[in-house]
Amino acid sequence: MPFPKDFLWGGAVAGNQYEGGYQSGGRGLSTLDAVTGGGYKKPRMMTYRTKEGQIGESPIDSSLTGQIPEGAVGFIKPDTFYPSHMATDFYHHYKEDIALFSQMGFKCFRMSISWSRICPKGMYDLNEEGLEFYDHVFDELLKYGIEPVVTINHFDMPLYLADHYDGWSSREVIDFFVFYAKTVMHRYKDKVKYWMTFNEINVLSSWCQIGIHRNDPQTLYQAHHHIFVASAKVVELGHSINPDFIIGMMAAVTPSYPMTCKPEDVMESIRFNRAREFYMDVQVKGYYPAYKLKEFQRMGVNIVMEDNDLDIIRKGTVDFIGFSYYMSTVSTTDSDAEKTEGNQFTAFKNPYLSTSDWGWTVDPMGLRIALSQLYDRYHVPLFIVENGLGAADTVEDDGQILDDYRITYLRGHIKAMKEAVELDGVELMGYTPWGCIDIVSAGTGEMKKRYGFIYVERYDDGTGDFSRRKKKSFDWYKKVIASNGEELG
Ligand code: BG6
Repeated sequence: MPFPKDFLWGGAVAGNQYEGGYQSGGRGLSTLDAVTGGGYKKPRMMTYRTKEGQIGESPIDSSLTGQIPEGAVGFIKPDTFYPSHMATDFYHHYKEDIALFSQMGFKCFRMSISWSRICPKGMYDLNEEGLEFYDHVFDELLKYGIEPVVTINHFDMPLYLADHYDGWSSREVIDFFVFYAKTVMHRYKDKVKYWMTFNEINVLSSWCQIGIHRNDPQTLYQAHHHIFVASAKVVELGHSINPDFIIGMMAAVTPSYPMTCKPEDVMESIRFNRAREFYMDVQVKGYYPAYKLKEFQRMGVNIVMEDNDLDIIRKGTVDFIGFSYYMSTVSTTDSDAEKTEGNQFTAFKNPYLSTSDWGWTVDPMGLRIALSQLYDRYHVPLFIVENGLGAADTVEDDGQILDDYRITYLRGHIKAMKEAVELDGVELMGYTPWGCIDIVSAGTGEMKKRYGFIYVERYDDGTGDFSRRKKKSFDWYKKVIASNGEELG
């Protein structure tokens, strides 16, 4: 049996896409509350008010990149649909949902805490009701023997910090974040053992994710430096709060293959992969790698650091790498090569592989490749904390949802991860498929793009009563977990 007995099978979600209750229990607004729904190839809009009082909107592109004018503040327009406001209403359904997760046999559940539920302005303002909400959630999970796996920050930022501090471009935000993280780590120290600091740190770039109003390289990398320092401080602090904490980083992993064996294509794929590896090199190895420092020089980026920042980064390295894997891509210097959609970037089409209905390349073996490369390079345990197929589900007349396409996708990826463990010796902690219950899509803002084993009656026009029903994949995944990955159907 390739997987250890305590392998963490489960599912994953994020607060801004699942929780809802955006104004309940004393929660403050977050940037994502001012981002509308969109659609396939129809961008989500960030809505804002300028210094002069004009209301405007600005698109986020498929890479979730997008800014609003300098000095503008997030603004919620009346009569506009904002999917995160209610999302799929975990806030009011957590008991029912956790009971369903337990029926599937989940050993763990990955979720994020909403920063503005704990600190409504993101500063030193604590909201006890918000803290109590997560107490109830964690207690409910533990009642069923499900380990919470908590992302401290998943793609959102208290709106106040974006409006008043230009988000992570300000150094002050490090202290605000550390205060928030310290608060939750103390509060839940006997309930939560597994933590990750920032979701997909390697793709954070837009106003809605990190609150910045410009994303030129200087501003962006300065903001990322602040995020690195904050994360490293939190890792060290977490270990002092509870030495049993297991604290990881989290990155979006999309391995890129050279389109041909032409050396230029190979170099291009190295360049593409380094854009991600940079974040892992800093957070796992504890230093800024040479190739990135050279790139900074070429771009004229000059990171402003305090004296002991590099020391903090060196000391605050993580215990494991959590990562999302949905697809691979290819690199080429041929600008005419066919393009397709990607997880937060436009990708080149791989002629050997098919794509999902949303244009993402489907590549199960790419997961084995990613696991092997990561383990060989970093030698730390790995945790697949996101993987899955976004697809449009149909409810049949008899109420069934026959999502065989999802089963096929997941089966292929589980086989690949088994091979990585069995044949390549990768140390793998667990597997939490993305959106284990239907949630709002981050990239498109849609409900139509669903990932779950559990269907939620919620639609893109804002209708739906939030009732839950099991899809065919529910029982399939239950058997996978019960057999520790042996019975894949
Ligand atoms: C990951 C994010 O990149 O991809 C999730 O961490 C996101 O938040 C997931 O939902 C799938 O992307 P999408 O755009 O299909 O929701």
